[in-house]
Amino acid sequence: MNHPIAGKKSAELLDYLNKRRSVPAKDLTEPGPTAEHIRTMIAAAARVPDHGKMFPWHFLVFRDEARHEMGAILKTALLKKDPDTPIEKLAQEENRFLRAPVIIAVISRIRPGKNPRWEQILSAGAACQNLCLAANALGFGTNWLTEWYAYDDYVRHALGLDKRDQVAGFIYIGTPANIPDERPRPEIALLTTWWQKNAPLNRGDNYDKSGFSLPDCSGCQINS
Ligand SMILES: Cc1cc2nc3c(=O)[nH]c(=O)nc-3n(C[C@H](O)[C@H](O)[C@H](O)COP(=O)(O)O)c2cc1C
Repeated sequence: MNHPIAGKKSAELLDYLNKRRSVPAKDLTEPGPTAEHIRTMIAAAARVPDHGKMFPWHFLVFRDEARHEMGAILKTALLKKDPDTPIEKLAQEENRFLRAPVIIAVISRIRPGKNPRWEQILSAGAACQNLCLAANALGFGTNWLTEWYAYDDYVRHALGLDKRDQVAGFIYIGTPANIPDERPRPEIALLTTWWQKNAPLNRGDNYDKSGFSLPDCSGCQINS
C-alpha cells in the first residue's frame, strides 16, 4: 500500500508546474511509453480527488493495431457525414492516431448517486491533467486533445461509449521531437480576487473572445 503524502516540499514539481508545455501531437515520436509506463500513468490519473468515491472515469488505451483501427473508424465516420470527402482528407483521418505512439482516452462516466454530475465531470478533467503530468514525469510529452471525433456519434458508438460517457480527452503521448516556444499566459492578478465584502471581482472578462456564445444557463442542470 502506498504511504499517502499530504504535503511535501518539491521545488522540482513546482518548477515543472510553472513551466509545463503541451507538445503538438505530430511532434510526439517513438519511443512511446511501455505497458508498464502506461499502467503507472493511469494509476496516477486515478488518484485524483473524487467526491463520493464514485470513480467517474475510465480509460481507453490505443497503441499498435488499435491506432490503425481507430483510423478506420475515423475514416468511416467522415464518409458517413460526407460520402464525397476528398481522398486526402480521408487519408489524414486514417493516420490521425498514428501521430503519437500511444493515445489514452479519458472517459468521463456519469454514475448514478447523490454527488453532482458537474463534480464528476471535474474529476475526469483532473484525471486528464494527472495523466499528462505523470507521463511528463516519465519523460514523455503530451497533448490533451478532443478534436471533432470526441463529439461524433458514430465514433462514440464504435468506441463502445454510451450516453453516460463523454470523452474528457484524448491524451497523445510520446517522446517530444520539439518543445514549442512559450505561449501567452494570463495575468494572474486579473483573474484573482482576494475577496472582501462589496469589492469588485477580477473575473478576467477582458479575456472574453468573440465567436463564442455564453451558455444559456437558464437550462443548465449542473447539479443533476
Ligand atoms: C478539454 C480540452 C480539450 C482540448 N482540445 C484541443 C483540441 O482539440 N485541439 C487543440 O489544438 N488543443 C486542444 N486543447 C488545448 C491543448 O491541450 C493545450 O492546452 C494548448 O495547446 C495550450 O498548450 P499548453 O498546454 O502548453 O499551455 C484542449 C485542452 C483541453 C483542456
